[in-house]
Amino acid sequence: MTKTYHIITFGCQMNERDSETLAGMLEAEGFVKTEDKNAADVVILNTCSVRENADKKFFGVLGQLKHPREENPEKTVCVCGCMMQQQHVIDTLKQKYPWVDLVFGTHNVSEFPKLLKGVRETKTKVVEVWEDGRAMAEGLPAKRDYSFKAYVNIMYGCNNFCTYCIVPYTRGRERSRRPEEILAEIRDLAARGCKEVTLLGQNVNSYGKVKHGEGSYCYLEEPEGQGVDFAKLLRMADEVEGIERIRFMTSHPKDLSDDLIEVFRDCRHLCHAFHLPVQSGSDRILKKMNRHYDRERYFERVAKLREACPDIALSTDIIVGFPGETEEDFEDTMDLVRRVRYDSAFTFLYSVRRGTPAAAMEDQVPEEVKHQRFNRLIDLVHQIQEEKAAEDQNKIVPVLIEGFSKTDKTMLTGRMESGKTVDLPGSADLIGQIVPVRITKAQTFSCYGETVL
Ligand code: 5AD
Ligand code: SF4
Repeated sequence: MTKTYHIITFGCQMNERDSETLAGMLEAEGFVKTEDKNAADVVILNTCSVRENADKKFFGVLGQLKHPREENPEKTVCVCGCMMQQQHVIDTLKQKYPWVDLVFGTHNVSEFPKLLKGVRETKTKVVEVWEDGRAMAEGLPAKRDYSFKAYVNIMYGCNNFCTYCIVPYTRGRERSRRPEEILAEIRDLAARGCKEVTLLGQNVNSYGKVKHGEGSYCYLEEPEGQGVDFAKLLRMADEVEGIERIRFMTSHPKDLSDDLIEVFRDCRHLCHAFHLPVQSGSDRILKKMNRHYDRERYFERVAKLREACPDIALSTDIIVGFPGETEEDFEDTMDLVRRVRYDSAFTFLYSVRRGTPAAAMEDQVPEEVKHQRFNRLIDLVHQIQEEKAAEDQNKIVPVLIEGFSKTDKTMLTGRMESGKTVDLPGSADLIGQIVPVRITKAQTFSCYGETVL
């Protein structure tokens, strides 16, 4: 009988991309996807540890798998992802969640088929989590979630060690894929009808800057003038026939070069959208966060981006309640938001991450103060977002149609270049196409429109 699998992915696009690889590997072994995690022969929980909420959600879902696993000895429960790179999580799993069969980490995704086979054949539990530093795996299969848009990893890991962040510990040191591997993947996607690629890395602006481990790319090692930095990689991706939209994330303001800004003037397929996490508007807090820029530098980068690309949609990440954040520091963040006027902003309550420098800082901000500031910030962000959204009314914009709307199955849904969703009437044959759409009702979070043919 056909064996089934179900994957639950927490967290960021990196994890979504890893889950596509896991799905590809399972399908290569003959497994088929099921929507029912309780009935699936293999369940994988791909975890995130960036904030405490993600940890909690994971343990909640894992708890729900206890009975299905106990009732079915043939079922295999697998857990992987960022949380597994932390020893205290492994200890907790061993003590409290004995129904887990297989644990692996972010560095040995490529080993998954072998590990799974071993666990299923021998009915023994396996924990295999590698430390950082082994070669990057290329050429793994992938079952992509969409045919017309795709994530493409350009680099893994992070070297920045922002003091609040767990990622450098869970994803290891920065390693860049070779440009020819990346371009081959993009060309292959294009040949199969993909129209939009999102280049992924924790800090894409430092693509190719440092070398770590076998196989990782460093443009400084190339002959004079032949190295490929991020700006050049974008220019090369822009030339790939069939790719109509290019996005990327995430950028670090400290490494946002003039060359990259220039790319926005020249590349035809680059979406006019930029995610530039600021984290805080206070110079004092930015320093404590180890971000290596100040608010003036950030304003300068934004001004230059807007000069090169006046209609660029700017988005950001902001953390509220970092240790030691005073009312004055928070007002600096509010002021920065008023001045930059983001099209959208992801706002987070500071969450203590074990093992990071900020977790050990004194003067943690009390929960009620954090929440109160968080609400003030959200009100401001939404007010600006609403004002900016109104500017889209009656505009005609290209929209990539992604499928049917989740809230109204009779409507299609798609995305503008800014990343904002638009619902519109239309037929299934438009799915996967980029069509001109007039915005008939501009709202803060999503819009309504109609095709202009
Ligand atoms: N607490 C709150 N937010 C965090 N982020 C990263 N670490 C933490 C933390 N400990 C946020 C940052 C980052 C985004 C992906 O998650 O804003 O840009
Ligand atoms: Fe975390 Fe900073 Fe690296 Fe982003 S750049 S992953 S926030 S350490």
